[in-house]
Amino acid sequence: MKIPIWLDCDPGHDDALAITLSCFHPALQLLGISASYGNAPATKTAYNARSLVTALGMFEQIPVYAGAQKPLYRTPEYAPDIHGESGLDGTELLPEPKCELQQGSYVEAMEKAILEHANEITIVATGPLTSLATLLIQKPHLKSKIKYISIMGGGIEVGNRNDNCSAEFNVWIDPEAANFILQDPELKDKSILLGLDITHKAIATQQVVDQVRGVVGKSKLRQLFYELFQFFAHSYEGAQDFKDGPPLHDPLTLIPLLEFYGWAPKSQVQFQYKRLDLRVVDDATHSDFGKTCVIKEYDPNDKRGTMVGFNANMDFFWKQILDCLAEAEKSSTIE
Ligand code: RIB
Ligand code: CA
Repeated sequence: MKIPIWLDCDPGHDDALAITLSCFHPALQLLGISASYGNAPATKTAYNARSLVTALGMFEQIPVYAGAQKPLYRTPEYAPDIHGESGLDGTELLPEPKCELQQGSYVEAMEKAILEHANEITIVATGPLTSLATLLIQKPHLKSKIKYISIMGGGIEVGNRNDNCSAEFNVWIDPEAANFILQDPELKDKSILLGLDITHKAIATQQVVDQVRGVVGKSKLRQLFYELFQFFAHSYEGAQDFKDGPPLHDPLTLIPLLEFYGWAPKSQVQFQYKRLDLRVVDDATHSDFGKTCVIKEYDPNDKRGTMVGFNANMDFFWKQILDCLAEAEKSSTIE
């Protein structure tokens, strides 16, 4: 049985690898994508998502919906410092999309996907949590039908936004949406949080990037991803002084699922997490605005508390990335 997932993302360089894994990992069945504002305005992330599924040769198989257009209550912030104005700067190889945005709302499409895969589906969020919060505010009956929520967001000891650098971008741009998920008694204990504490251990070193580029039969798709990695690396070195390479945050959301659904043994994935109740600082006047704060820590074997990741087998992670890129090459449409 494949793992049914829905991906809400804000592509985004690292989101692009989350899309690639979601499309090509043998364990995963990607039901749909909703493109949210976040790294760039929603119009741009929607274009980027359509271009990426076209580049990957999956534009006929994977429906792309417009996701949340702005935070629940606040004005949107974007991340051109990391992703450029388009949200996916750094290459001329992104193809014109061969698919349009799906008609109809992502809320209705996600409800359909959840009900058709009730109690088996994982919602993966690699941008702000606005789309998911909006869905579950409008349709609370769906909360009990979701098996896991896997989130790239937050950080306990590490941050990349606010005056104290104590918040993480995805949570910081919509703290109310984050609190809606992380404080909800029906949702918090089945949420898996891949925060900066673990994602800053997934560094795309030059050795990794050279493997992405490949040597034999260097395809246009590999060149596309090589150029995206190079831009991402340059941005992270300039903006946050990452000298060994950029942290590849978003695809890590998929790794715990391989263990939790029994696709790979714990001894191989080695996902290490703490069970924590969390609250996000939502007072914009606070110097820790957007910070993910620990309210309570449970015993690791408890069923209560959000599963907050702190480490995993990164060799296993990079092998998933490289294997999925090799699979993607077989269906890529860019010549
Ligand atoms: O803070 C990192 C997160 O913000 C990643 O999801 C990246 O794509 C950006 O959205
Ligand atoms: Ca993202």
